[in-house]
Amino acid sequence: MTKKPAEQPEFTDAALSVRKLRHIDVCLTQAVEYTHVTTGFERYRLRYNALTQTNLAAVDLTTEFLGATLRAPILVGAMTGGAELSGLINRNLAGAAQQLGVAMMLGSQRIMLDDEVATASFEVRDIAPDVLLIGNIGLAQLSESIVPYLAKALGRVGADAVAVHTNPLQEAVQPDGDTDFSGSVPRLRAFAETFGYPVLLKEVGHGIGAVAAAQLRDCRIAAVDVAGAGGTSWARVEQLVRYGEVRYPALAEWGVPTAQALLECRATLPGMPLVASGGIRTGMDAAKALALGADAVSISRPLLPAAIQSAGAVTDWVGRFIEELTICLHCCGAGDLATLKASGLDSL
Ligand SMILES: Cc1cc2nc3c(=O)[nH]c(=O)nc-3n(C[C@H](O)[C@H](O)[C@H](O)COP(=O)(O)O)c2cc1C
Repeated sequence: MTKKPAEQPEFTDAALSVRKLRHIDVCLTQAVEYTHVTTGFERYRLRYNALTQTNLAAVDLTTEFLGATLRAPILVGAMTGGAELSGLINRNLAGAAQQLGVAMMLGSQRIMLDDEVATASFEVRDIAPDVLLIGNIGLAQLSESIVPYLAKALGRVGADAVAVHTNPLQEAVQPDGDTDFSGSVPRLRAFAETFGYPVLLKEVGHGIGAVAAAQLRDCRIAAVDVAGAGGTSWARVEQLVRYGEVRYPALAEWGVPTAQALLECRATLPGMPLVASGGIRTGMDAAKALALGADAVSISRPLLPAAIQSAGAVTDWVGRFIEELTICLHCCGAGDLATLKASGLDSL
């Protein structure tokens, strides 16, 4: 019998599941955010209006995104799936999303493609029947051969759309990462043209900037989540998982800051629905991102501690975030998101 060389370990579902749990553990217990790079939102100030003519109780955060109506322009971020704990996290996130009328992105469904057991950890439709639910797969894993399996996985969870995450830096730092991105743009283009679900392209916290956005000009994707730098650094998480330390600090600090990524994507792709994420931590951050041209925002790691507790804890966290966002609109004199967008910001 020929033995597999040690440098080519097999990707077992069990190994993937363990890795997902390590990600959760490291994200909960270690310093995984950028330490020097910031989102850039601190360089802007919303235009406070002492003579606002709005009624706080009547401020309307409703928005349309990917054909759905959201009660607030928020997507619960893509995080997890696979292990039992991931199932609990997904269900608590989904329960809160249903309660608040916001959208939810699932974590990578790669593990679902051939593991019936893992499927259960992604199934949230029973508790989130009305939520805009977005499935997830890696660009590096996107090949013609997985398309039918992906369609089946999305069908099983009742997803409305799919997010494709592009993460060359994360994969390069990850043990046994998929590091061949050659041909990935034409593959994405063909996929978006023919796949039966709307496709959202996202990063994982290192940002989609002008160069990447320009490569999407003729691509029939439905939305872009800029997932910029300034929040969770996946080059940091993966180094902590792999080496138990940050061996390459410069890589952990590398990316397009979220505010810059948002402006570059907005300038390059004028009509594209855009999500701002990566370091969105407060309702004020969200208000600035929306005023700068985002159509919605997404939050991931800050929801993790609450998601381990209960759906109520997630609802409280996001509820407070929405309250702050509502106050921001009110005190800018904006009764709705279109007026906020038109009101602009001051650069500091
Ligand atoms: C525990 C955890 C797991 C994640 N898993 C995925 C994933 O499977 N697919 C994906 O597209 N992004 C994944 N992400 C990345 C987030 O969606 C997000 O882009 C990134 O964490 C930056 O946002 P943040 O600063 O709000 O955390 C994960 C994030 C966390 C915290």
